[in-house]
Amino acid sequence: MYKCAIILAAGEGKRMKSSLPKVIHKICETEMVNIVIDVMRNSGIDEVNVVVGKGADKVKEATSSRNVIYSFQDKQLGTGHAVMCAEEFLQEKKGTVAIFTGDAPLITEDTVKKLINFHEGGNYKATILTSIVDNPTGYGRIVREKDNNVSKIVEHKDCNEEEIKINEINSAMYCFDIQALLESIKKLNNNNAQGEYYLTDVIGILKNQGEKIGALPVPFEETMGVNSRIQLADAEKVMRRRINRKHMENGVTLIDPDNTYIGKDVEIGNDTVIYPGNVLQGKTIIKEECILYPNSRIDNSTVEKGVTIQSSVILDSKIGENTTVGPFAYIRPLTVIGKSARIGDFVEIKKSTIGDNTKVSHLTYIGDAEVGSGCNFGCGTVVVNYDGTAKYKTIIGDNAFIGCNTNLVSPVIVKDNSYIAAGSTITKEVPEGALAVARARQKNIEGWVEKKGLKK
Ligand code: UD1
Ligand code: CA
Repeated sequence: MYKCAIILAAGEGKRMKSSLPKVIHKICETEMVNIVIDVMRNSGIDEVNVVVGKGADKVKEATSSRNVIYSFQDKQLGTGHAVMCAEEFLQEKKGTVAIFTGDAPLITEDTVKKLINFHEGGNYKATILTSIVDNPTGYGRIVREKDNNVSKIVEHKDCNEEEIKINEINSAMYCFDIQALLESIKKLNNNNAQGEYYLTDVIGILKNQGEKIGALPVPFEETMGVNSRIQLADAEKVMRRRINRKHMENGVTLIDPDNTYIGKDVEIGNDTVIYPGNVLQGKTIIKEECILYPNSRIDNSTVEKGVTIQSSVILDSKIGENTTVGPFAYIRPLTVIGKSARIGDFVEIKKSTIGDNTKVSHLTYIGDAEVGSGCNFGCGTVVVNYDGTAKYKTIIGDNAFIGCNTNLVSPVIVKDNSYIAAGSTITKEVPEGALAVARARQKNIEGWVEKKGLKK
């Protein structure tokens, strides 16, 4: 049967107290609405329509990589009205529409598939995903008849004394028969406590026409909505636990999974050990047998097998096999570091390549440089890549020995197997096999201290 989805994302999310629309707040590094879109796609639904309104431009921008269709809700007159705004999208279609909200990101593919099968298999005109909860405050209540069939949904603010006690809640996740939905949304009114057109009223309307309504209870962990920053943190925690569990199942050791922050798209090889306080973001890949000691942030980077990283920041870069990084290194975008290299403490590298076995052990800046293999950088080396106007490139061959406190004023070339004396400021090419000394010669003035009367 044909299937499509509508995701409601036009609300502002007042309780978030944010200048961003609620649905583009992130959990585990991904916008909530994008998580919902991806779940729909992975559940076998191709056409996804997102209803935007408040902050429409920002929501469209955030979802631009997802290839969805948009409907626009000018005024936020309720969830039923939001669906009316997608009427054009549904018009000529026959089959099933799944309606979800952009603020409930914990739903899983398994459950969406189960919902669709339950709905289509049971020949329902509408099927609601529900949860049984201890505290139903704020949620719409599922009202069932004596025969246990669903008769309607009543919003919290519209409940009578009996209804308010019901602890089966509406998740705001449904499947509808498209034509039945289109017919019944025309009949919605806003005679209720909030003066809104409620999508939930469609259930009562269909029921009164004698249609069959399905309801599928699932754990609240999958249906909880995010309306506040507190719930955002709650949702993040659930998602984090799921992601971290998956990595542990794949053979990754997480010393403290509650304090390890791994984005949804990150890949990690087995026998890698991750200490607390690590933040892995974007499309980062960490291969096998790495050790990530506490407190690094690694974004969009590839870390090859056997690498050790301590308390460092690595952005859009590649780190070769068996290399060590940190503590306190800053690897900036477009850096490629070779195998068995050593990048030590307080080293910053930007847009540079560093060859295999090269050691940059302490207090060094390398920017816009090509560095060969087997080099050794003394403490305090600076690649002077910027003259205040433009950036220049430095090229260093293999097995160069750069003495401590050297300045390499770019553009400059240092050839293979050369040495640079400590404290040199290099402005000219260093030939292969040469020693370059570029500093003032030392002069000692005997007895100077006494002559000046400074002797203690
Ligand atoms: C809704 C349900 C409630 C359910 C709860 C589950 C209704 C009337 N109520 O309540 O039964 O228990 O979700 O989380 O449907 N939105 C629009 N346009 C609007 C209003 C809302 O696009 O005019 C979008 C919002 O962006 C949000 C979603 O719909 O993503 C839900 O809206 P929200 O105001 O959060 O509904 P709840 O009060 O949570
Ligand atoms: Ca909500």
